[in-house]
Amino acid sequence: MSLQNFLSRLDQLQSDAESAFSGASNSESLEEARVVFLGAKNGQFKDVQKMLGGIEPTDKRAAGMRLNEVKNAINEAFNAAKEALEGGGGSQVDPTFDPSLPGTRPTLGHIHPITQTIDHLTEIMGRMGFEVAEGPEVEDPWHNFVALNIPEDHPARDPLDNFYLATAGVAGGDPLAATGEGEALLRSQTSTVQIRVMQSCQPPIRVISLGRVYRPDAPDATHFPMFHQMEGLLVDRHVTMANLKTVLRVFANNYLGDDVEIRFRPSFFPFTEPSVEVDFLWNGTWIEFGGAGMVDPNVFEAVGYDPEKVRGFAFGLGVERLCMRRHGITDIRDLYSGDLRFLQQF
Ligand code: DAH
Repeated sequence: MSLQNFLSRLDQLQSDAESAFSGASNSESLEEARVVFLGAKNGQFKDVQKMLGGIEPTDKRAAGMRLNEVKNAINEAFNAAKEALEGGGGSQVDPTFDPSLPGTRPTLGHIHPITQTIDHLTEIMGRMGFEVAEGPEVEDPWHNFVALNIPEDHPARDPLDNFYLATAGVAGGDPLAATGEGEALLRSQTSTVQIRVMQSCQPPIRVISLGRVYRPDAPDATHFPMFHQMEGLLVDRHVTMANLKTVLRVFANNYLGDDVEIRFRPSFFPFTEPSVEVDFLWNGTWIEFGGAGMVDPNVFEAVGYDPEKVRGFAFGLGVERLCMRRHGITDIRDLYSGDLRFLQQF
């Protein structure tokens, strides 16, 4: 046999063996292929090895070296195929994969309980004709205090009770300070939106505004430095406290239940006169949900309305408080912990 023939026989053997091993789909068929190519008695490798005897003595050395190379390559191919079948080759497709089985569903997020509450409150108030208004969370002191009849020396303006923005180091300085309006702050109440709405619209007005407010309170079960309020404002010609009470009672009956009663307690807010605190009777206990009152004439004047011609009521309720009562949540911090075990319950 010529060296040429012997070498091409070896090449053929190597490629046949390699494809047989890698194509074996389980260990039984791999073992069958092993016997065919590497079997000690009648394996194809043995057959070719026997042919070495018929090679010219001068070519023997070259033929022998190539024979060894092919033997190693076939053994390697066998070991690789074996490992893959035993699970050693992670990239191999699982031969038992069943494409007709249902897949793994990705976990979906959902709407945060406070956002759900905001949507619900918006829907209830919408049925009574209240439209949604919005205002900025970074406010100037005029909208947060001055126009709401809160004078310069009022304790509500204390730096310790507000998040004034430290803009002194900002290039160009505080843009609001430059206008003489004082330092910008994170709004401490949504009553700011009343002012913004009245500045841009004429009565009749019937709006609510739901959003974040900020106060430097230490967090505990009932306090958090950021929380939400629902502000309401209705301005028309003949508006009375009875209208205010009806709107809030209908609201409470829709959100908390048919049997919930409402109570007004005399109070004071600079932007309403008279002012009340609003309590709802919930499971036999009176619970305070916010403040309300008839819009103070000074507020109407600040926005350019004629206090002789218009009248209005306003209210501000705590959104977290409403949400917590309705769902039996006892710690406001749970709402903002980001703990999915808590949030997934809503
Ligand atoms: N802004 C008040 C607060 O943050 C709540 C409030 C009281 C809002 C009376 C009103 C109102 O609109 O009329 O405590």
